[in-house]
Amino acid sequence: MAPKTKHFIVIANMKMNVIQDSYLQHYKNLSLTDDNYITVLMPPNPFIITLHNILGKDNVKYLGSQSIFSEKEGSYTGGTSIDMINNYISYVLVGHSERRIFFAENNTDIQKQLKLVIDSNLIPILAVGESSEDKNNNNFQSVIREQLSILNDIQTSNPIYIAYEPIWAIGTGDVADSKYIEDAATFVLNEIKNINPSLDVSLIYGGSVTENNIMDIYNISNVNGVLVGGASADISKFSNILQKIKEAN
Ligand code: PGA
Repeated sequence: MAPKTKHFIVIANMKMNVIQDSYLQHYKNLSLTDDNYITVLMPPNPFIITLHNILGKDNVKYLGSQSIFSEKEGSYTGGTSIDMINNYISYVLVGHSERRIFFAENNTDIQKQLKLVIDSNLIPILAVGESSEDKNNNNFQSVIREQLSILNDIQTSNPIYIAYEPIWAIGTGDVADSKYIEDAATFVLNEIKNINPSLDVSLIYGGSVTENNIMDIYNISNVNGVLVGGASADISKFSNILQKIKEAN
């Protein structure tokens, strides 16, 4: 395979799995970048500043948030405003299926979050993906098209990452096969060209990524990164993933 033209991005979506901030000390020893990859670490929001302090302020380019609320300030119990964390991070994930399902976030909320991220000059990662029901009913294209439609009036010259994450592959061990991911990536990238050709988009994959399947995904030509969930909250599994990519030529 021809070498990747961009750094492959490896995003650690630790979810609510790292529940003690002391565990984050282990991430200090990771090689956060290499000839082949860059890493983005997304601890739970209350630990962002802890990890920022552990890594040092020069490494803010390797830190992100798993979620923000769609308003900047006000009576929103339990919400995290982008303004509380934007000095400590460079990326924000929006639209993850767990936010859509468990926190009832809809396309309107997700578009507001996307705009807040862009207005703060941070890099957004928009997650999209179909359920197994959508897949079985051949609704893949309409579901993804609807999720991507929020890009229509987005204006930015900053890069945007689209994380294609089939819901049936998240946390199940049932990783999508390479051909399926490649076809989905082609569909997503073409769709975005129709919706908003001005955007600088990179496609990444998420869903049961491990050290055992990372190289299959790395070798898919139109995939430029991965969103790692479960395996990112275990330092040895996560470093093994990075090590495999480091050894790729
Ligand atoms: P997983 O999660 O790697 O545990 O499947 C991926 C994600 O939800 O980002």
